[in-house]
Amino acid sequence: MTSHALPQRQPSSTAATAATAVRHIARAAAFVALGFGSAAHAAGIRLEDDRGTTLELQAPAKRIVSLMPSLTETVCALDACDRLVGVDRHANWPAQVKGLPQVGGMDDANIERIVALKPDLVLLRPRSRVAEPLERLGIKVLALDAKTHADMRRVMETVARATGKPGAGEAFWRRLDAGLDAARARVPAGWQGRRVYFEVHGGVAAASESSFIGETLGRLGLGNAVPGTLGPFPKMSPEFVVRADPDVLMVSALGEISAMAARPGWSAMSAIQRGRVCSFASARFDLMMRPGPRLDEAADAIVGCLASLGDPRR
Ligand code: HEM
Repeated sequence: MTSHALPQRQPSSTAATAATAVRHIARAAAFVALGFGSAAHAAGIRLEDDRGTTLELQAPAKRIVSLMPSLTETVCALDACDRLVGVDRHANWPAQVKGLPQVGGMDDANIERIVALKPDLVLLRPRSRVAEPLERLGIKVLALDAKTHADMRRVMETVARATGKPGAGEAFWRRLDAGLDAARARVPAGWQGRRVYFEVHGGVAAASESSFIGETLGRLGLGNAVPGTLGPFPKMSPEFVVRADPDVLMVSALGEISAMAARPGWSAMSAIQRGRVCSFASARFDLMMRPGPRLDEAADAIVGCLASLGDPRR
């Protein structure tokens, strides 16, 4: 803030000092009038969340409870990890959040425990059942949801603004975007355009073309066995997947290959027969499932698996 910087050379006479002081006051007044000074702070930070609710913070959030691992990761990626005072039970990255008080699950967190942490902001997803009770108690709530890359970018910038770091979310997104381009350049040539079936943990749903995971696959030049018209994470029947005959299956370690082969018709699927399955261990799968700041790492993990499967043309 150069307007508030002291002049480097001190004027010699009292008159000159007085004139300088007047200039400083005038500049400071102009600074405030332009909205950069404490008056702007007093006006607070206006945020719109994914319920369409407008929230006004008097100052950047300093005591944050986050009920979504991806939002927890985002706060930390924006260099505000020290503002977190509580997290949900799934938060495990970065390592320092494991030491924070846990307030329960993403949707059924314990209200008393949250209140006891005296948060000035609670981050959660729009379908969380605790949003309304918390608001009734006068606690500020920001409900954010990221189903697509565009959502992720918006969520990152919203969290950045909530923590008093406008622009930092956009800057972070640009780094991720560059990371996706770099990952694409590493996809082995034979895999370009091949169709992936990406099964969401638990095995009942898949990431379609229109989900953030599907968009990542698209950025890598890969196809998707599940069209975006079905919604981002549609429930899939085993028969649909057999008919779609994907080139490669991507699953969490939960969906072991032997269990998948036992699904009706799946043992005949070429991806199963040729062993073209990327099965990601829990910590790796976490980063795939979280629309957060490790999107580039998720893309790297996908590329790494494809490379390990060899050339699909052979
Ligand atoms: C015991 C059951 C489950 C647990 C503990 C669990 C946990 C999680 C966690 C921690 C995330 C990361 C959220 C984030 O940080 O943004 C996540 C994401 C996700 N989960 Fe689950 N999950 C469960 C069951 C399911 C089931 C059955 C489905 C599918 C019908 C599902 C679909 C998803 C989807 C689509 C995401 C991506 C991001 C989002 O929309 O939140 N989950 N889950």
